[in-house]
Amino acid sequence: MKLQKEEHKSFVQRKFDRIVKRYDLVNALASFFQDRLWRKKVASFFKNLDGPFLDLCSGPYTLSFEILKNKREKLFALDLSLEMLLYGRTKKSPLLKFIYPLRGDAERLPFKDNVFSGLSIAFGLRNLPDREMAVSEFYRVLKKGGLLVILEFSMPKNYIIKGFYLIYLKYYIPFLGGLLTGDKEAYKYLSQSIQKFPPPEEIHQLLIQRGFKKLEIRSFTFGVVTLYIYQK
Ligand SMILES: C[S@@+](CC[C@H](N)C(=O)[O-])C[C@H]1O[C@@H](n2cnc3c(N)ncnc32)[C@H](O)[C@@H]1O
Repeated sequence: MKLQKEEHKSFVQRKFDRIVKRYDLVNALASFFQDRLWRKKVASFFKNLDGPFLDLCSGPYTLSFEILKNKREKLFALDLSLEMLLYGRTKKSPLLKFIYPLRGDAERLPFKDNVFSGLSIAFGLRNLPDREMAVSEFYRVLKKGGLLVILEFSMPKNYIIKGFYLIYLKYYIPFLGGLLTGDKEAYKYLSQSIQKFPPPEEIHQLLIQRGFKKLEIRSFTFGVVTLYIYQK
């Protein structure tokens, strides 16, 4: 079991390493330019917080930059893919100086207890094979009262919209991703992982079992994305 999880992680890492240069572009096109608005919403929750912040599964700092636009604080960006972190460093932004990149595993955080006042993870939780362990780690590194903000895909509840969404996931996403990055398999994985990810009710249970208090759950764009705001 443990081996399977480690294999899953290296598969995911290899996939993200390969698609890095077109990662932001595919996101924008695949979401019909909604992804920026979803991340802006996440970032708005950091406006009134003091640092330091932790952005997990940061990729090329796509969300990290949105958070820093609102609030300039020390922000640790952690990702399993070194290529993602290095690519992020090539982006021309004065905000880079606030970002402390770390290559690491979101299930085993290299930080002491009670360090961060805000922790974000956008489109990352789905990739973690041991979600219980990951959420316990989020809890451990957050300060008391600290904010956990998760942005993740979800399936629409309306069955007509869900029907269209399944077609979009099965055909459009692998086609678009394959065309732009040359790695159709990475985008097939994306589609499958979205369908396998538990519904918001289950994620809520997981979070409260690990000690978090719910502040808000909000869904966007017909329910294809869900935002979870919880507090330690
Ligand atoms: C879909 S991207 C999300 C990037 C960014 N948060 C955003 O909003 O666009 C998922 C990221 O999670 C990273 N990742 C996957 N498994 C991970 C793990 N176990 N620990 C840390 N990062 C991981 C991948 O390398 C990838 O960069």
